[in-house]
Amino acid sequence: MTSDNVQIRSARSSDRDQILAVHRDAFGDDEGPLIVRLVEEMLNDPTAKPIYSCVAESQEKIVGHVLFTSVTIELADGSTDGATAQILATLAVAGELQGKAIGTQLVNHALQRLAADGIKLAFVLGYPDYYSRFGFCPAGVRGFQAPYPIAEENAEAWMVLELHPGQLGSVAGRIKCCAALDHPKYWVE
Ligand SMILES: CC(C)(COP(=O)(O)OP(=O)(O)OC[C@H]1O[C@@H](n2cnc3c(N)ncnc32)[C@H](O)[C@@H]1OP(=O)(O)O)[C@@H](O)C(=O)NCCC(=O)NCCS
Repeated sequence: MTSDNVQIRSARSSDRDQILAVHRDAFGDDEGPLIVRLVEEMLNDPTAKPIYSCVAESQEKIVGHVLFTSVTIELADGSTDGATAQILATLAVAGELQGKAIGTQLVNHALQRLAADGIKLAFVLGYPDYYSRFGFCPAGVRGFQAPYPIAEENAEAWMVLELHPGQLGSVAGRIKCCAALDHPKYWVE
């Protein structure tokens, strides 16, 4: 397999088995089965909608996948902010093609779609060194609490990106994610 001619496109329902296989491959024997189940659950979860599911395809084979799912921002008074927001829920690139900018292309493609659709904020819990290249910055200090507490030493891993100027500082609150992702086991970084 090579990274030549990699195309990024929206996922189709017929891609599902290959999408799951990419996650199984990327996350390995330990984490793979848990992540595969999570991806399946999110793809079936009505509370995750709208979702943004994009694949990287090379030689008619799916070699990468990114999935954004919908979140709401709960304000201090218990109401929810109307701002549209999404979370980068999973990202995976097939093992033998990692480190060839496929993950970067997937995330950039999906973020462009979110912005074009008027989504205002994107969140992620992940590697700060990786996600900062897309403009993600620490979310906790900007007033966004994760659905479950993040250990102090990993606070930088909980990140936010404003997709349209003027969002940061104008809204703050606790993030509520879709039912499939709403479990503490997924919030350990
Ligand atoms: C993380 C992952 C999606 C990145 O996709 P990719 O196509 O391999 O990455 P890209 O080629 O776009 O970017 C490469 C960069 O990512 C960095 N990177 C890869 N894995 C990383 C990690 N675990 N922590 C920090 N940075 C990482 C590399 O150091 C490299 O940095 P550089 O550009 O400064 O040299 C992919 O490696 C993967 O699927 N890993 C296993 C599953 C996983 O961890 N998913 C992410 C969950 S948040």
